[in-house]
Amino acid sequence: MYRIGEEEIQAVRRVIESRRLFKINDGGQECMHFEEELKAKFNTKYALLMTSGKAAIMSGLIGMGVGPGDEVIVPAYTYIATAIAVTAVGAVPVIAEVDESLTLCPKDFERKISSHTKAVIPVHIMGFPSDMTKIVEIAKKHNVMVLEDACQSDGGSFMGKRLGTIGDAGSYSFNYFKVITSGEGGALVTDNRELYERALIYHDSSAIAYFGNQLEGITEPQFCGVEFRSNEITGAILREQLKRLDGILFDLRKNKKYLMDKLSDRYNFIRSNDIEGDCGTTLPFFFDTIDDAIAFQNFAGEKGYGTTRPIDTGKHVYSNWTPIMEKRGAFNPKFDPFKFEENQGLQTDYHPDMCKKTLDLLARTVYISIDPDWNEAALEKISADL
Ligand SMILES: Cc1ncc(COP(=O)(O)O)c(C=O)c1O
Repeated sequence: MYRIGEEEIQAVRRVIESRRLFKINDGGQECMHFEEELKAKFNTKYALLMTSGKAAIMSGLIGMGVGPGDEVIVPAYTYIATAIAVTAVGAVPVIAEVDESLTLCPKDFERKISSHTKAVIPVHIMGFPSDMTKIVEIAKKHNVMVLEDACQSDGGSFMGKRLGTIGDAGSYSFNYFKVITSGEGGALVTDNRELYERALIYHDSSAIAYFGNQLEGITEPQFCGVEFRSNEITGAILREQLKRLDGILFDLRKNKKYLMDKLSDRYNFIRSNDIEGDCGTTLPFFFDTIDDAIAFQNFAGEKGYGTTRPIDTGKHVYSNWTPIMEKRGAFNPKFDPFKFEENQGLQTDYHPDMCKKTLDLLARTVYISIDPDWNEAALEKISADL
């Protein structure tokens, strides 16, 4: 789905010829420029490029001070990485239903808030914006921090603001399956200085005090963290990808709108919280019954179209999050947050049918992936065939 080509090849060439592949040195500054360009484009104060989206979520949670004794609310429909990131910082995920938009249900989010809730992670899954107005309002009321998981929605927006920049912090993924990509990669954005400083220290703890002047102006004390540092080749590729982002989104949205307009007399679609800001990567058909959804899949398959029901997407569905469902938070039991004394009595009574509404909605939905490069003839054919 993504676009990549000559510009990225030139960017990689530039880095290799400079012989400066390390992020922190006097000359090669691709990562630094990427962070500056991301901040400018998304209108956010701080940005940190790192090795993955999960790395960005973990760094964001650490920046928020999340740890043992804390509950973090996550939607029942998201990639397992969202939930595992919570356990990786010593806290426990609390699983909440999604609503008819397939994003976090604000009502169930509020219902699941307890005196232990420290943060919520609304996930803009498949490029669908979560209802950030309601989520932020509820979070503020209960003093809960908001970390947006925009890993599947690089560049999307809600009510004119880029996804990831509405809550206290936001995370992006640039892995192979995303709107823009460098094979692997991620970024954290925030306007919160304290959160940024902690994430900066955490994500590069073994080098931050040694290389360059990264600690200049940092007042948070150093602590031991992990190593999620990126590199100049990734930074250079992402600078080119960022230039392409709005063009890709424009074409995805145009193609999605075309198909929805043509097909809306025959089909229903998943409700959108903001169709203008939706990334347009996915056309989500919604059916009254599971049988109708399967019949549509068979029909589309006979016409040669690949479809997916989100219920069949493995580790995107909470009931398939084996290590969470079985409460194995680490290999060494002493590191396992599910066994921590501080986490006893928290909402970790997981079972496969705990979010029945989510399972039902996912089973009644069928996706077709949208290609930004489909031309009018291709779109016309799809709408005629279906
Ligand atoms: C919703 C969601 N969150 C987090 C991640 C983690 O991103 P990464 O693979 O870059 O660690 C992914 C990756 O697929 C994702 O889809």
